[in-house]
Amino acid sequence: MSDQVLDVFDAAQLIPGFTAPELPREQPDRATLDAAEHKTRFWTSTVSGPIVVGSDVHRHEMCRMFRETFNPYRPSMLEWPRLEPEALKRIVELPIWDIAVQTEGRARLRMATYAATLEDADLRDAVALNAWEEHRHKEVLSRLVKAYGIELASEPPYVHPKDTEWAYLVTGLSECIDSFFAFGLFEVARRSGLFPPELIDTFEPVMQEECRHILLFANWLAWHRSRLSWWRRLRFELKVAAVWVFLGWERIGLSRTMDAEGNEHKQDSKFTMNGANSVTDINISASEVMRLCLAENDRRFSGYDTRLLRPETMPKLVRFAMRFMRDKAPSMS
Ligand SMILES: [Fe+2]
Ligand SMILES: [Fe+2]
Repeated sequence: MSDQVLDVFDAAQLIPGFTAPELPREQPDRATLDAAEHKTRFWTSTVSGPIVVGSDVHRHEMCRMFRETFNPYRPSMLEWPRLEPEALKRIVELPIWDIAVQTEGRARLRMATYAATLEDADLRDAVALNAWEEHRHKEVLSRLVKAYGIELASEPPYVHPKDTEWAYLVTGLSECIDSFFAFGLFEVARRSGLFPPELIDTFEPVMQEECRHILLFANWLAWHRSRLSWWRRLRFELKVAAVWVFLGWERIGLSRTMDAEGNEHKQDSKFTMNGANSVTDINISASEVMRLCLAENDRRFSGYDTRLLRPETMPKLVRFAMRFMRDKAPSMS
């Protein structure tokens, strides 16, 4: 595959002590794939009794969860099914490909630079693996784009963040917002039957990986804030609030990105919030989509130890918003 499709990102070089995971060289058989899939979705700590938020045990177990639920798929072995012209057109016309590729490109660097600042080896390794997985997502997307002949704008340079904690918070909280909606949209797409099941299956590991990512992030956030002195905590909470305001602003407007040639591209960064009509031909109401997002969110987290915290802001906000929504479209089964 050409250099234009696969760019270089060496997490091991950016993060002291991190070694990239070894992936199988041969295509695994069905039983091995099923076992890896199961391991990714279900994890229970061997620690008995409560896991106190902010404790060393909490930190240790969240990192262990992340390590032990790793899915060793190799992007080059993923299969891209031949699409009927209708389905191909639908995929090519989704207004997300540039922003998706660039989001993964930024996420990997932001996570890697934050990981490099962490003193605790366990936590550093978990965030480093997360960065490595973001790079793998980018590779998956790049291969999809290539397989289906989707034209991408040239990517802007990815810049090392100055405030690594801010950048990590922006990335982590963005993933909490986008994954919540993506879980629901993915289910809308699956039920619609507009996309071949093989394509849905190819993307499934990426979706579950995002679930693991925000599980790690939510636990890191709770662990980190509980260990700060009152004045550091106050400063940190102001920073978190500023990140939410920034992300809200970003999602209200159309985001603008510059490509490598300096051309401006407008992209729909709200797609994960209102893209249902692009992935189904059924007229589906906003409240139906939200119900699916909530149900999928619960389902995807259901296999992990309940003593680990879940991201709560999006489900709470959406449950609140649903009180003011009325169904206007037939239900989707
Ligand atoms: Fe990702
Ligand atoms: Fe992620």
